[in-house]
Amino acid sequence: MGRGEAMHAMLKRVKGAYALAILFEDDPSSIIAARNGPPLAIGHGEMFLASDVIALAPFTNEVTYLLDGDWAVIGKGGAAIFDVDGYPVERPRQTSMAAAYLANRGQHRHFMEKEIYEQPEAIGHVPAHYVSLIENRADAVPIFDFASIPTLAISACGTAYLAGLIGKYWFERYARLPVEIDVASEFRYREIPLSPQSAALFISQSGETADTLASLRYCKKLGLTIGAIVNAAESSIGREADAVFPILAGPEIGVASTKAFTCQLAVLAALAISAARTRGTITENEVQALVRSLAETPRIMSQVLDSIQPKVELLARELSKYHDVLYLGRGTSFPLAMEGALKLKEISYIHAEGYAAGELKHGPIALIDKNMPVIVIAPFDRFFNKTVSNMEEVAARGGRVILVTDEKGATASKLDTTHTIVLPAVDEIIAPMIFSLPLQLLAYHTAVFLGTDVDQPRNLAKSVTIE
Ligand code: AGP
Repeated sequence: MGRGEAMHAMLKRVKGAYALAILFEDDPSSIIAARNGPPLAIGHGEMFLASDVIALAPFTNEVTYLLDGDWAVIGKGGAAIFDVDGYPVERPRQTSMAAAYLANRGQHRHFMEKEIYEQPEAIGHVPAHYVSLIENRADAVPIFDFASIPTLAISACGTAYLAGLIGKYWFERYARLPVEIDVASEFRYREIPLSPQSAALFISQSGETADTLASLRYCKKLGLTIGAIVNAAESSIGREADAVFPILAGPEIGVASTKAFTCQLAVLAALAISAARTRGTITENEVQALVRSLAETPRIMSQVLDSIQPKVELLARELSKYHDVLYLGRGTSFPLAMEGALKLKEISYIHAEGYAAGELKHGPIALIDKNMPVIVIAPFDRFFNKTVSNMEEVAARGGRVILVTDEKGATASKLDTTHTIVLPAVDEIIAPMIFSLPLQLLAYHTAVFLGTDVDQPRNLAKSVTIE
């Protein structure tokens, strides 16, 4: 039996997810590759194999993605690819954009810092790319018919899930569209009774997260229209969706997601505005005002990034002395509080939790003392006064309040806070993008003070391609 036949016979018996590269002692010039679940890409030229095109970037930008069940015999002359039944197949050869990006970190110490400061440029691609969709211009990409969707399902993991949670507030508030959202590891097993007339959005920077892909396949089986908000259109999640909504962030190397998060938010905002316009729940003037706010985001982000670094570094030096931190917010600042906590815990290893400020009295207030800094995210919006009263409860119990607000909030709050980070006053729909910047930088500088591996934190991977 030849190697190919032996490989095919073996794979028929293998169960579960795998991404294999098989080498032969007696034939160092060939590799046999096989994938089912986790991604595998063949690099052309001297012939390479990797699970992520980023690894191939220094050597080639000509790549071929294997699909689930594919296996390939790779030799000096090229690659022969076979499907799960052993029949030869052609898979498209594509040009990966990763190479241009990996040149270096520029003047930054870490990729995460570089990616935080790239956000104004990255997010600037979104309004331009989606304005035709928002204004339902003829050249718009045909997407969901938001007017006929009874429910929108959203599922993702980690930071992508928190972006989806913020999107839920927007779809429900502006488009009056009910949203069913859950983390993908729960969503995939809940057997949610969704009608085939509904639609589902799956958010994933890598496009390869196993739980998110499984949730997509659950909805596909139910007959829903599937949208993928991804950074890699050619990823598994992008390929299996009916419509791809690229976030245009460029490759994100740091394990902690930063520019992908704010670009996911910008795409969700564009989709929510488009849905509201299609469902006739907002006026044309309101559409234009929201689009103008989105278009303003890159300029405001640059302004904030230029101004807050010194104060955030000072604050991070103090924060690095603590072992527990609580983040509080209301409305879209609640998922943002969870995202701020996730950023801090995943790169500095300090325990941190994000909570709805209104939940303080239902338990977390028992934690409050001088050893528990409380970071309150409170733009001067319709929740501000309620959140201020939560802050006063914290201060009254000896808690150290760090307030992240805008000029109006800083003036209105009479509280003597340990620190106040003042941001520009912005429209509610872009506040989460702007208010995420100090939270990202706070986590980053705290981790730098603590000397952890910022770009590759312990126990974490950039893409979780297995359950
Ligand atoms: C984000 O900072 C984390 N690294 C992690 O939560 C990530 O958002 C999650 O694993 C989802 O990854 P994805 O966007 O590639 O699907």
